[in-house]
Amino acid sequence: MVKTIEWKGNSVRILDQVRLPLKEAYLDCFTYREVIECIVKMNIRGAPAIGLATALGIALGVQGIASQDREFFDREMDSICQEFFRTRPTAVNLVWAINQLKETKRNHRGDVASLKEAIKARAVELLEADLAINRQIGKYGEPLIPDGASILTHCNAGALATGGYGTALGVIRAAHEAGKKISVYVDETRPFLQGARLTAWELVEENIPATLITDSMAGYFMQKGKVDLIIVGADRVAANGDVANKIGTYSLGVLARAHSIPLYVAAPTSTLDLNIPTGQEIPIEERTHEEVTSIGGIRIAPERIAVANPAFDVTPNEYVSALITEKGIVRPPYLQGLRRLVQGD
Ligand code: MRU
Repeated sequence: MVKTIEWKGNSVRILDQVRLPLKEAYLDCFTYREVIECIVKMNIRGAPAIGLATALGIALGVQGIASQDREFFDREMDSICQEFFRTRPTAVNLVWAINQLKETKRNHRGDVASLKEAIKARAVELLEADLAINRQIGKYGEPLIPDGASILTHCNAGALATGGYGTALGVIRAAHEAGKKISVYVDETRPFLQGARLTAWELVEENIPATLITDSMAGYFMQKGKVDLIIVGADRVAANGDVANKIGTYSLGVLARAHSIPLYVAAPTSTLDLNIPTGQEIPIEERTHEEVTSIGGIRIAPERIAVANPAFDVTPNEYVSALITEKGIVRPPYLQGLRRLVQGD
């Protein structure tokens, strides 16, 4: 399986998702600002992968703090964290990663040199743990996929969006590994084409039968009875179960309801944000307009047209049939279910 991101000597190596599937190229980041640039430009993307890039990026950044003074170190690390915080606002895994490393810092009793090592070790641990988390999501989600099912997915919630295996695609992988004869409709996912470029690539590599469609074809195939279930990932799940995910997910939720098709959301607990009551409080990232006016660097729209490019939307909890996490499946009512899941009772 491809390595989305890894710690390599004194650098962070990132598989360049902008160039996939045409070229399998890697970017070696020697400074934390290079990692930030990769997140902003979406060389690495997907909520869990953004969190992991943040963790490894902060770990890389703190290696460069010259002073042995602990207070100075704390201030510098906080300012590095702030820079990461500003990169992509919707995926809460980024905040989660920052909090994980801040906790390591808070609990550390040794000198600055050993603290740097501890932060690096924690970041690498989070990366390694992510693969196991995704396999667990796959294990819980697999029974929801009937043998012979035709599944629709949106964006890329695969190995590339995580430390490996994937969330929504992890469930699909698990069903395939269990010997189920599944097939997948892949939304191309305009404007950044994560479906056409990345999910299609992962499924072809795994020999899982898949058909690429444009986003606007989803309703057509549902109406024809060709879709048995939808499974997507998430960038942030609010306390009431509202789900922020790639723009277009809400439309799929409404269509799924109209056709009595279940919509499942697969996400690790690091994507839960129980501090916010509903999806209305989730910040939605507005991205550069060139993503809409151009395809593959070629302009397709007139120069003076106004453009909007919200990268995510919020699917209200009523459209979500179940949330699949590494700690188990949660069904409505989500407010109680999610709280129980996190508190572990
Ligand atoms: O803008 P992106 O490519 O980072 O958006 C990715 C998604 O919306 C994914 O569905 C989500 O992050 C889950 S990835 C396991």
